[in-house]
Amino acid sequence: MKQYRIICESLKASSDYRELQNYRGRFIDFSTNDYLNLGGNPEILEAAYEAGRKYGCGSTGSRLLSGNKEIFEEFEEQIAHDKNTEAALIFNSGYQANMTVLSALCDERTLDYKKAMLFFDKLNHASLYKAADLCKCTLKRYPNNDQNALEDLLKKHKDEDCVKFIVSETVFGMDGNCANLAELIRLAREYNALLYLDEAHATGVFGHCGYGLSTDYDLSDITCVIMGTFSKALGVSGAYVACFSDVKDYLLQKCSGLVYSTAPSPLVVGAAQKSWELVGQMNEQRKKLLETSEHLRVSLAKHGFDTMNSCSHIIPIKTSSSSEAMKYKELLANQGILVSAVRRPTVPTPRLRLALTLEHTKNDRAITYFCNQLYSSSFSGRTGNGPVTG
Ligand SMILES: Cc1ncc(COP(=O)(O)O)c(C=O)c1O
Repeated sequence: MKQYRIICESLKASSDYRELQNYRGRFIDFSTNDYLNLGGNPEILEAAYEAGRKYGCGSTGSRLLSGNKEIFEEFEEQIAHDKNTEAALIFNSGYQANMTVLSALCDERTLDYKKAMLFFDKLNHASLYKAADLCKCTLKRYPNNDQNALEDLLKKHKDEDCVKFIVSETVFGMDGNCANLAELIRLAREYNALLYLDEAHATGVFGHCGYGLSTDYDLSDITCVIMGTFSKALGVSGAYVACFSDVKDYLLQKCSGLVYSTAPSPLVVGAAQKSWELVGQMNEQRKKLLETSEHLRVSLAKHGFDTMNSCSHIIPIKTSSSSEAMKYKELLANQGILVSAVRRPTVPTPRLRLALTLEHTKNDRAITYFCNQLYSSSFSGRTGNGPVTG
């Protein structure tokens, strides 16, 4: 088909063409989402084998048919306990969870054929946009983290008789800033909206024992559906949704990603369960990760780099164009440093994306080496007056 080729060629022309990456060898890695470096942890691997020996590699069917396993229910109870919710459900991936849970909750047929209204942070993940597309809801987008704009929208539509959701990531995966959760909760209460939170990048790094930012708040009086993943700081794959029991019961009836998909592999669930347990014991490491991130951010700012609104272990460095992002990604790769170049349509502003991990907290030289390479380059992403020493 000629059309497919034409699209690829036009993306190449604007430096927005994507290719599979296969860097080999040893690198200082700022591109991984394995923030706590748990991916190769021996205890987690052992837990995966043990679950595999007990339940098999595959789960053999949907949870509603042959696929339900004791270990899934145990893990869900643990998650609900740690998230302070009545119930939890696990999924094969975060993408699948967001796309099918949010769209099921907004299904017109359930809501008496009244379209749900989603008050939606513009920087939300593609899987949340896909959910909005699928359920044909009314989408009201507000600028990233702009609670005043969100409140204006809620006020404007307060008399409309439909189900309303405020939808936001809690740590934005590409910008590295945190949602103002206290405000989102206040607005949900005041305007009688439901809250859908995506804790993909907060899980393992923020909140009580690393179980996400929502654990710092009492959410018992609002309907809150909290999604998070096992694929990032937990170093495994899969996702959870923590919610009221009524919502879980409804999802078991109507969430297509759960009803019509084979349940997760017991190997993966065994690994994720062990990783979840270990994460709960890593407060010191989390503190160090966030301190190291802050040091790097301050240093980058001093040298005139724009780290946007980052306040977490995810640090973007704004570039003037997609081609500049690609150029610096290649340049750094040639020096043994992996960073991600994130471009349109994933984000409106091209950038390098650095993700800090525990590896960087143990090895100061890696950060120093990265900074030296970047500061000695002719990177035009600097917004200040060039290098400042000290
Ligand atoms: C905010 C956010 N939500 C959901 C997902 C999807 O999660 P998964 O990779 O587990 O499918 C991602 C992954 O990039 C993400 O960044």
